[in-house]
Amino acid sequence: MLRVGLLTSGGDCQALNATMRGIVKGLSSNVEELEVYGFLNGYKGLIYGDYRLLTAQDFSGILTKGGTIIGSSRQPFKMMRVPDEKGLDKVEAMKQNYYKLRLDCLVILGGNGTQKTANLLREEGLNIIHMPKTIDNDIYGTDMTFGFYSAVNIATEAIDCIHTTASSHNRVFIVEIMGHKVGQLCLYAGIAGGADIILIPEIPYDIDKVIEAIDHRTKQGKGFTVIAVAEGAISKEKAAMGKKELKEYMKDNKHPAVSYEIAAEIEERSGTEVRVTVPGHTQRGGSPCPYDRVLSTRLGAACAKAILNGDYGYMIGIVNGKTKKVPLGEVAGKLKTVSPDDQIVKEAKLIGISFGD
Ligand code: F6P
Repeated sequence: MLRVGLLTSGGDCQALNATMRGIVKGLSSNVEELEVYGFLNGYKGLIYGDYRLLTAQDFSGILTKGGTIIGSSRQPFKMMRVPDEKGLDKVEAMKQNYYKLRLDCLVILGGNGTQKTANLLREEGLNIIHMPKTIDNDIYGTDMTFGFYSAVNIATEAIDCIHTTASSHNRVFIVEIMGHKVGQLCLYAGIAGGADIILIPEIPYDIDKVIEAIDHRTKQGKGFTVIAVAEGAISKEKAAMGKKELKEYMKDNKHPAVSYEIAAEIEERSGTEVRVTVPGHTQRGGSPCPYDRVLSTRLGAACAKAILNGDYGYMIGIVNGKTKKVPLGEVAGKLKTVSPDDQIVKEAKLIGISFGD
């Protein structure tokens, strides 16, 4: 009998179900006896022993279904070692629930924070496999995370829709794309949607340069400008402040979200009418795109293979088109960010896209 636990944690994304389906199909096609336990609502389910014994039926027809059939929640890594309000030791509780079910392994689907806790559980002696999920594509050690291209599609469609109304009204439009720390999604959707200016956290912007880029378009006879702004875009002044000082500054100056701040500055200084659109969580919703369905199925199959071989303590990623077992301890806690020196950034600049730097 093979006993496997599944857990989805952190912000959801489109191909979580597709990935779980790939794992379970890969296992059930190769072992006689299989029990799959789904811990409900992320690490919460593992801490408090809230789980469901899942059947083959649960994994049928979910390739195209967004969200996660076992629910998710955010459980910050830094709180894992802090007892809950009733004094429960969360790490011990997770271990106990794992052992109580006599699991052979636990597969954890999630982003960076989730990965850190997965690694902690590995260090505590559990058999863990991590599957890299996130629309941000910011997980170190894999070229791609599932969810990213589905979100790129949605964010691109949002920019496409804004284009037609922006050009009809001769306005500046800001489309705010998800990504607090990493601008990969904004970069890809910005390029795909033909944004004129792309502002991401890794390349701090100078508002003068942003206004210059708008003026340049006006002089070329283009009456509108589309700006893709990542949630975590940051001005050069704020980037120079340092983490602590910036935190204090944000606390003291109840500033609006960065997109509205940029919009107000542009309006005030150039007199141009600016509108802000925030597609928000639509970027994480709906069906996975075909690319993500294929990626998830491949990662799921590779995960099943690792389990069948008893290979634990890995993240299953994709590198140079091939699925790969990446030692969890080597990647946990690292973030994959965009670099101003990346070829894609240089190419975008070459065709005239401004990064406001
Ligand atoms: O990490 C995925 C993500 O969608 C980010 O792009 C975004 O900044 C964040 O989650 C939003 O988090 P929440 O769903 O908790 O508001």
